[in-house]
Amino acid sequence: MRLDEYVGELCDQLASAGAADRRGIVLALEVAPVDVGLDLAVPLGLLLNELVSNSLKHAFPEGRRGTIRVTLRPEVGEDAGTDEQTLRLTVQDDGIGLPLDADRTSPQTLGLRLVTALSEQLHARLVFENRNGACIMLVFHAGANGRPSAANATDALSRQALATQAAAPE
Ligand SMILES: Nc1ncnc2c1ncn2[C@@H]1O[C@H](COP(=O)(O)OP(=O)(O)O)[C@@H](O)[C@H]1O
Ligand SMILES: [Mg+2]
Repeated sequence: MRLDEYVGELCDQLASAGAADRRGIVLALEVAPVDVGLDLAVPLGLLLNELVSNSLKHAFPEGRRGTIRVTLRPEVGEDAGTDEQTLRLTVQDDGIGLPLDADRTSPQTLGLRLVTALSEQLHARLVFENRNGACIMLVFHAGANGRPSAANATDALSRQALATQAAAPE
């Protein structure tokens, strides 16, 4: 499915649920027209849902205005010699910033734990930081045909297992 269209619809819904217009919060999307499978789109949708909801809920207290920027683009230079695409997803706002402390790599609250778990599922590299507001970055592989490499690897493994079973005498 077309990731840019999906992300656009999702963010529209989140913006209206979070009354972004009325609060003077702009959602700026810059999503490359990549085609991905559902196995990648679903965890990405859940991740985005949590991160954009967090920005709407926490970044702009007391009538503060601002911008939430969602960017998804192919990572340049990482795919030389492979048929795999590497994608970088960034959700950045110019709000009050994340309460990052000593344990920034493994947040204990549910929403951010969900984000960590989903990014592990995508075998993504995940970074939380503050850059004039919260900034969450995720770099992951989307395999050929828009399938994530993890799923391809799993498919290959189960094909191998089936072949082994078929070859084994009862
Ligand atoms: N974009 C953000 N800007 C500022 N603070 C944030 C942002 N995202 C998350 N936080 C802070 O991190 C905490 C943990 O987030 P999360 O695990 O999603 O929990 P919840 O959203 O249920 O409060 C939030 O309660 C909030 O204080
Ligand atoms: Mg949350």
